[in-house]
Amino acid sequence: MEKAHASRHRLTPQTEERIRSLAARYHSQPQQLMRILLDIQEAAGNAFPRQVATIVCEETGIPEAKLYSFISFYARFSPEPRGQFVVRMCKSAPCHVCGAVQVMEAITRTLGIQPGETTKDGQFTLEYCQCLGVCEASPAIMVNDQVYTNLTPGRAATLMEDYQRGDVR
Ligand code: FES
Repeated sequence: MEKAHASRHRLTPQTEERIRSLAARYHSQPQQLMRILLDIQEAAGNAFPRQVATIVCEETGIPEAKLYSFISFYARFSPEPRGQFVVRMCKSAPCHVCGAVQVMEAITRTLGIQPGETTKDGQFTLEYCQCLGVCEASPAIMVNDQVYTNLTPGRAATLMEDYQRGDVR
């Protein structure tokens, strides 16, 4: 994992303010904890470092141990800085037999990084994940919250190029 972008995760006062206001939603919508924490992670630069966790605990009253056990259970949360777009390739069996390896090769070629790495410009992080729940339309990937199905190497490469150009947000 590239460390070059760690500095961008020192929170500005504006970012801290935004995190606090997102966390405050928890008081009226405690059942939305996952959504709120994902929004906070995005606001913090696609990472959930200790500083962010501390603010969330202060604002929501959630005990630190409980928050850490929640965010460490779900792979979608990361204490490490990640790219603006987190690309996750499903590596479970149905996707594997439908060509996930070739799709992943096309993605690594297009982005110039391997799984577990972040591009130098901080735009993309590439990861593997478990089943995305759309096996009938495999192989599948997820880019942040968006799922893409029935991929071929060519479609995957075009999709990554669209993201690189800023055609998809
Ligand atoms: S195995 Fe890939 S979506 Fe289920």
